[in-house]
Amino acid sequence: MQLIDGNRIATAIVAELKAEVAALPGRRPCLALVRVGDDPASVSYVRKKEQTAAEIGVEGRGILPPVTITQAELESLIDQLNADPAVDGILVQSPLPKHLDELAIFRRVAPHKDVDGFNTLNLGKVAQEDDTGFVACTPAGIMELLARSGVDLKGKHVVVLGRSLIVGKPVALLALQKRAGANGTVTICHSGTRDLPAITRLADVLIAAIGRAEFVTADMVKPGAVVIDVGINRVPDPTKKSGYRLTGDVHFPTVAPLCAQITPVPGGVGPMTVAMLMKNTVKARKLGAI
Ligand code: GUN
Repeated sequence: MQLIDGNRIATAIVAELKAEVAALPGRRPCLALVRVGDDPASVSYVRKKEQTAAEIGVEGRGILPPVTITQAELESLIDQLNADPAVDGILVQSPLPKHLDELAIFRRVAPHKDVDGFNTLNLGKVAQEDDTGFVACTPAGIMELLARSGVDLKGKHVVVLGRSLIVGKPVALLALQKRAGANGTVTICHSGTRDLPAITRLADVLIAAIGRAEFVTADMVKPGAVVIDVGINRVPDPTKKSGYRLTGDVHFPTVAPLCAQITPVPGGVGPMTVAMLMKNTVKARKLGAI
């Protein structure tokens, strides 16, 4: 079994981007990071994004509206950022508080600043295999991890567990694209799938993105499979100072020995999401400068 080291690969991408930003003419790229509320996971993710931005030379503009912000007020804030020529990319951290319509907010972000790739046009471009848009960061990170780990999806059966707009659907579309490294045969499984283990056992590459701690067990995995664990779940653990531990959607101790390659949690897909966000932000700056 070989561990896919997301930290190492993300660090290499961050170094590439740092050099790219240093060589850019004019002002630094600028990323607006909008976080509403104090969801502990979101606080930690946005902090990591700000730290990596600083490391690369991307200006991170943290925006923390009050948790009582209305839909109209948040839409107006997005409109202001869309119109601000000093802002290249806009990220609205998900999940938003329940009183807000998250999809409407994602759609409000101007396509050319949508570095998260969540709006309708950018997701449509993934389906159309049009590279001029932005690919959502976690799916893009998974494809990059596979490519840099020597995993070619051509002719492989890729099983995606989960159909979210943020991961499941876009990563399935990417794996399906008719291009080098992709060209997989893709199955998407979800909560309505009958006899899930029978399908996941057919996977040459299994991508678990359902947000349920340690859901994928050894009986669900074919020996020799490549397993990509997208889950970041907080499980109560009184032996930890924080009171919790992080675990993926895969039961790592029993699944890992079966696999040809597997990503750990933490240190697998997570750092790649941040690296791809930075890549998209640099792309937005470059496109804006043209
Ligand atoms: N929440 C979980 N993943 C993501 C992501 O990639 N982007 C944003 N904005 N929110 C998220």
